[in-house]
Amino acid sequence: MCSRGPRRLVQCPSSRLSQAVFSRESDDTMAEGTDTRTQGGSPGPGASKEPAAGRIFSGMQPSGEAHLGNYLGALRQWVRLQDEHECFFCIVDQHALTGDFHPETLPTRVFDLAVSFLAVGLDPERSTIFVQSDVPEHTELTWLFNAVTPVGDLERMTQYKDKSARLESIPAGLLNYPILQSADILLYRAELVPVGEDQVQHLELAREVARRWNHRFGEVFPEPRPILSTAGRILGLDGGAKMSKSMDNTVRILAEPEEIWERVRTAVTDPQRVRRNDPGRPEVCNVFTLHGHLTDPVLLPDIEDQCRAGTRGCVDCKRILADSIGEHFLEVRERAAELKANPQRVREILEAGAVRARKEAERTMTQVRERMGLTWRSGVHAG
Ligand code: TRP
Repeated sequence: MCSRGPRRLVQCPSSRLSQAVFSRESDDTMAEGTDTRTQGGSPGPGASKEPAAGRIFSGMQPSGEAHLGNYLGALRQWVRLQDEHECFFCIVDQHALTGDFHPETLPTRVFDLAVSFLAVGLDPERSTIFVQSDVPEHTELTWLFNAVTPVGDLERMTQYKDKSARLESIPAGLLNYPILQSADILLYRAELVPVGEDQVQHLELAREVARRWNHRFGEVFPEPRPILSTAGRILGLDGGAKMSKSMDNTVRILAEPEEIWERVRTAVTDPQRVRRNDPGRPEVCNVFTLHGHLTDPVLLPDIEDQCRAGTRGCVDCKRILADSIGEHFLEVRERAAELKANPQRVREILEAGAVRARKEAERTMTQVRERMGLTWRSGVHAG
């Protein structure tokens, strides 16, 4: 069994999640220090300290202003990780080109996501916050990684299979998407990558890419490990699919209270609870799950008991959730309003982030180009 310290697990490529680390702090309601662990076994000595050491990279597609799913599944955790790690947070606009995208709206979507990043508390003083296309080395490294990545590995990716199955003509970029993602991470020699479950397979590929490249050209890249959020998969208001903008089952984190209520009102609850005083099952109710993430923990036992007893109806329960959301993001809305009133500030932050990112990227690429023989000048011989 590959279940000792994270370092050892590097030798066990067969165990898919062997390298996953769970965030110690990804959920406010968790008791402190209970959930940093390596999946598939008890943490080895020192394993709980492991995450604090490494550099972090994560990326998010520019789908505009963040919604509750982005926040609970990723951003909330990113904000906390800044306390203990050197972090790079990237708006991956080049990844967006592999799906449906509109050149006219892409710039605004990048800006709106940047505002959300900053409003929730990503801190440009401590973290490098930047836009992927500002650092051309991402695509350069992607090309170089094409040299060590078998097409078969890419065709096996679940996300590729799902997305390509729906298309008549498959853009090469969709197949190569995980190579660009590997380049994102490895360009900064990041060791830890906070992601959702659905990205674990891409991380496994990034590790494979690092391993193959290092084997052929010499040790340059650490093998990055995912940090999985204990918030798990955040379901949308429909209670069925993952919360995502394209499913229209989200709540905008910057929504005003009236809008929050309009959205939360429509949320699907326990389908067996038809009448107001039918006993409910909080364990199958997505509204209750969201309460767990956003409502004051002191209120949770009552909410649960009254649902089970049928003494509080779903509508009242949703009102409490809407209020919790409104309150939770009160300051975030204020900060976002300030940033939107001062777009130059947002621009400056992203420009400064790009400068920092480029410096780091250039450092890696100098080594990589050299090792791969992209140094034609050394072949110019006198006489
Ligand atoms: N593929 C990721 C997603 O859809 C986004 C992403 C791109 C990313 N590059 C990354 C995530 C690098 C982590 C690290 O969520």
